Amino acid sequence: MSTKGRYTITAALPYTNGPIHIGHLAGVYVPADIYSRYLRITGKDVIFICGSDEHGAAIPMRAKKEGVSPQVIIDKYHAIIKKSFEDFGISFDNYSRTSAPIHHETASEFFKKLYEDDKFIEETSEQLYDPEANQFLADRFVTGTCPKCGNEEAYGDQCENCGSSLNATDLINPKSTISGAEPITKQTKHWFLPLDQYESFLREWVLEGHKKDWKTNVYGQIKSWVDDGLRPRAVTRDLDWGIPVPVEGAEGKVLYVWFDAPIGYISSTKEWAEREGKDWEPYWKDSNTKLVHFIGKDNIVFHCIIFPSMLKAEGSYILPENVPANEFLNLEGNKLSTSKNWAVWLHEYLEEFPDKQDVLRYALTANAPETKDNDFTWKDYQARNNNELVAIFGNFINRVVVLTNKYYDGVVPTPSTFSEIDEQTLTELKAYPAVISSSIERYRFREASQELLNVARLGNKYLADEEPWKTIKTDEKRTETVMYVALQIASALATLSEPFLPFTSTKLKSILGHSGLKWEEIAIKDILLPEGHQIGKGELLFSKIEDAEIQHQLDKLEATKKANAAENKVIEPQKEATTFEDFTKLDIRIGTIIEAEKMPKAKKLLVLKVDTGINTRTIVSGIAEYFTPEEIIGKKVTVLVNLAPRKLRGVESEGMILMTENPEGKIVFLNPDEDNVNPGAIVS
Ligand code: MF3
Ligand code: ZN
Repeated sequence: MSTKGRYTITAALPYTNGPIHIGHLAGVYVPADIYSRYLRITGKDVIFICGSDEHGAAIPMRAKKEGVSPQVIIDKYHAIIKKSFEDFGISFDNYSRTSAPIHHETASEFFKKLYEDDKFIEETSEQLYDPEANQFLADRFVTGTCPKCGNEEAYGDQCENCGSSLNATDLINPKSTISGAEPITKQTKHWFLPLDQYESFLREWVLEGHKKDWKTNVYGQIKSWVDDGLRPRAVTRDLDWGIPVPVEGAEGKVLYVWFDAPIGYISSTKEWAEREGKDWEPYWKDSNTKLVHFIGKDNIVFHCIIFPSMLKAEGSYILPENVPANEFLNLEGNKLSTSKNWAVWLHEYLEEFPDKQDVLRYALTANAPETKDNDFTWKDYQARNNNELVAIFGNFINRVVVLTNKYYDGVVPTPSTFSEIDEQTLTELKAYPAVISSSIERYRFREASQELLNVARLGNKYLADEEPWKTIKTDEKRTETVMYVALQIASALATLSEPFLPFTSTKLKSILGHSGLKWEEIAIKDILLPEGHQIGKGELLFSKIEDAEIQHQLDKLEATKKANAAENKVIEPQKEATTFEDFTKLDIRIGTIIEAEKMPKAKKLLVLKVDTGINTRTIVSGIAEYFTPEEIIGKKVTVLVNLAPRKLRGVESEGMILMTENPEGKIVFLNPDEDNVNPGAIVS
C-alpha cells in the first residue's frame, strides 16, 4: 500500500512514420525522463510508459509512397525509434507498440464497454470521399485552407499553422492528397463520443480544478476549446488501417487513431505488469496514483479533453494529475519537419556523437520550449557544452579528482575544524536538493538544469577562494579540510545530476567509487563521502566540441536546404522560337544602381536610379521583399533599357532590371561576374 506516491508517467506515443528528432526529445521525452528519474531516486513508485503509435494515417500514406506495406514501415521505424531511445538513455519501464495483440485487445474492450454502456451516439453523416480513388478520406488525406487562419496547407483534422483542431468538412477548397481530386461527400455511419455532454465535467475538473497548477499554455488551449462549444467527435473511421471496430455492422471501419493511441498507455502498462509479475490496475485506477502525460502542444486537446472524457465515460479510471505540454522547438530558425528532412535525427546524432547523449540532453533542457517556441542552434549546443558542461561541471570534478589523487593517493582526507566558509558552503550545498526538487515538481526543467549547474559553480568558487593548490605548501590540515568539503560537493553532484545527465552521473559515481546517495540524503546526511574512502583515477566527464564538428552539422543542414529546393524546382518548358531579328530589338545593358528607396505604401516596390551608361534614369522594380535599399546601392545589374516607359504607382519607370531565382527560391540579380564591365556595356 503506497500512499507515499505512485506515479504513472506517460510520454506521447511517437508515430512510426519517421525517426525521432530533437523536437520530439525537447518537447516530450527528455523532460519526461528527467521527471521519471527524479521520482525514482526520491523513492517513489514510478512507471514510465511509452510505445509506438502505429495506426496514424500518415503511415499507409508513407507506405504507398515507398511502395511497401504499412507493416514494413511500422516495423522499420518501431525498431529505429526503440533503439534510439534506449541508446539515448530514456528510461522507459516499457516501450510497447499499438500493433501488439494486447493493445488491440485492450482498445477493443474499451470501445465495447463504452458501446454497451450507451456512451456513443451513432450517426450517419456526410464524409469526404475521393471519387477517383474510390475511398473515404481520412482527415490527414485531405488538405485545404484553414477556416480560422487561412493557412492553405491545413489538414483535415488540424491546422499546424494556428493549432486549431478541425473537421475535414470545415476546410475551404479541400483536395484529396491521394489523387488530387476534389472530394465529394458521401453518407457513412459512425460512432461519436458526445463531447458536448462532458462540458460540465471538463469545466469542473480542469477549468476549476487545475486553474492554478497547470501550465498556462495548456490551460488556455483547453479553455478556448470548451468555451468554443464542444461537439460530438467521431471515434471510428472508414479505413483499412487500424483496429477493426469490434461491433456488428461496422465492416470496413476502424477505430479512430486518436481513440486507440492513448489507450496504448494502458496496454503498455499491462505488458509491463505481465512481464514484471505486477498488477497493472493500481497504476490506472487507484486514486493515490498520479497520472502525468508528457506531450507536445499539438496533442493538448487529445490528452486534456478527448481522452479524459473517454476515461470518464468508462468510469473506473483516474484522470491525469497534470499534462505539462511543451511548445515547439525549431532548428536553426526553421520549423522542424520530418517530410522536409529538416531535423537533427536522434539515431544519426547517436552515430556521430556516440558518447554525447548528455550533451544533447543538457542543451535541449537548458533551452527547452517550456513556455514559448524555441530555437535549437548548433552554436548554442556547442556553447552549452564548452562553456557550461566542460568549463564548469567537468572542470570542477576534474580538479577535485586530480588533486585528491595527487595529494592523498585518491583517499578522502580527514577534515579538521570547518571554517565559516566551509560551513556556509556545506549549508548551501544541502539546500540544493530542495531547490532542484521544487523546479522539477513544477515542471520547470530549464530552471532545474541551471540550478544543477549552480552546484558545480558553488564547487568552483569554493576551490578558487580556498586555493588548496597553494595551501598544500603551507597548511596541510587546512588543505585536507578543503579537499574534504570539495569531495562532498562532488558526491552530491553525482546524485543530483542523475535525472538530467544519467551517463555523466554513472561515470562520476564510478570515478568516486560510490554508488550514489538518495536525493534527500544530501540534505540530511552529514557525510556524503566518508574520510578514508578510496576514489578512482580521473577520467574526463566532458570534452570540448571543436568548430569543425559544428560546421559539419551546419553543412549537412545546408545540403538539406539545397536538396529541398532542387526537389521543388519546376523547370519551365522552353518558350516558342523567336528570330534573331526579334532578339536584337531588345536593348539590354549593364547598369549601376545609384540610388534606391522604398515606394511609399507599396510592399514590393523599390524606386531605383540606375546609371545605364546612356543616362541615369528611374526604374521601379518589384524586389522590395528581397532587398533593402541600402544593400543594393552600387550594385551592377542587367537592364532592359528600351522597354517602353510605363507608370507604376504614379512613378514613370524607364526600363526593367533582369532578375533570376537562386536554389532557395530567393529572387536575385542577374549580375555580371566580371568586375570590369562598365555601365552601358551591351548584352548580346
Ligand atoms: N502519435 C501522436 C503524435 O506523435 C501522439 C500520440 S499520444 C497518444 O502526435 F496518447 F495518443 F498515445
Ligand atoms: Zn489555421
